Amino acid sequence: MSLVVVTGGTGTLGRRVVEQLVAAGRSVRVVSRRPHRGGLPAGVEFVRADLQRRGDADVAVAGATVVVQCATTYGRRDVPLARNVIAACRSAGRPHIVDVSIVGVDRIPIFYYRAKLEVERLLANSGLPWTVQRATQFHDLVARLFDLQRRSPVIVVPAGVRVQPVDVRDVATRLVRLADGAPAGRVPDIGGPEVHELRELAVLYQRMRGGRRPVLPVGLPGAAMRAFRAGANLVPGDAVAGTNFTAYLTKHP
Ligand SMILES: NC(=O)c1ccc[n+]([C@@H]2O[C@H](COP(=O)([O-])OP(=O)(O)OC[C@H]3O[C@@H](n4cnc5c(N)ncnc54)[C@H](OP(=O)(O)O)[C@@H]3O)[C@@H](O)[C@H]2O)c1
Repeated sequence: MSLVVVTGGTGTLGRRVVEQLVAAGRSVRVVSRRPHRGGLPAGVEFVRADLQRRGDADVAVAGATVVVQCATTYGRRDVPLARNVIAACRSAGRPHIVDVSIVGVDRIPIFYYRAKLEVERLLANSGLPWTVQRATQFHDLVARLFDLQRRSPVIVVPAGVRVQPVDVRDVATRLVRLADGAPAGRVPDIGGPEVHELRELAVLYQRMRGGRRPVLPVGLPGAAMRAFRAGANLVPGDAVAGTNFTAYLTKHP
C-alpha cells in the first residue's frame, strides 16, 4: 500500500494535511523532532526525526510513495533540511515530493523567502518527481501578528500592505489533491478568498475580539516592504472560495 510521509505533520498546516489524508483513507507517517503530544488521528505512524540530520531523513522517508514537505524552521536552515530530504528520497525509491512555498518568494527579498526559493530550485534540479505549491499568508499568521500585540495600547501594522490570507484547511485540501496526482512541477498559486489591507483586518480582529484599541499604520522602509506594498504577496486570480478571515476568527475565538 502506498505511504504518504508528512514532514512537519504536527505543525499548523501539516496537522490539517494529515487529518485530510487519513479521512481519504491514506496510509500516513508523520515526522517531527519532538515527541507528539497526542492529537494525531488513529492509525497514523509517528517517526521522531530531525531532518537537519541526513541519517534521520533516511529513516523519515523510508518506504514513502509521496513526501508532503511541511517541515520548516522559518529560517535559512530550511535549505539544509531540504537537501537532506532530497538526498534521502533519492536513495529511498524516489518518491514524489510535494513542497509548500510562499507566494512572492521570488519578489520579496527577505531571508526566509530566499531560503524558500532556494528550496524550490533544489527540487526543480533534483531529478526527483516534484510539485511546488505556493500559498499566501495563513489566517493563523495574520491573527498571530495581532495576538502578539494584545498587551499593547495600539495595534501597529505596516502601512499600505495588503494580504490575502488563506485557511490552512483549504491549503491542505489542495496539497492532498496534489499528493494524489502526478508530479506537476510548479502549480498555480493558492490564496484566500479576499484581499484586505492589514489595517482593515486589524480593525476586524478588534471588532470580533471585543477590543477598542486604535490601529496604527506605520510606514516601513526597505525593499521587502516596497514589494509587499506593491502586492507581490497576492494572487487575486488564484483565490480559493474558502474560509475568509471573519469566518476563521469566528471558529477560533
Ligand atoms: N505561515 C504562513 O502564513 C505560510 C504561508 C505560506 C506557506 N507557508 C509554508 O507552510 C509550511 C508549513 O508552515 P507551518 O506554519 O505549518 O509551520 P509550523 O506550524 O511552524 O510547523 C513546522 C513543522 O516542522 C517541524 N520541524 C521543524 N524543524 C524540523 C526538523 N529539523 N526536523 C523535523 N521536523 C521539523 C515542526 O515540528 P518539531 O518542532 O516537533 O520538529 C512542525 O511540525 C512552511 O513551509 C511554510 O513556509 C506558511
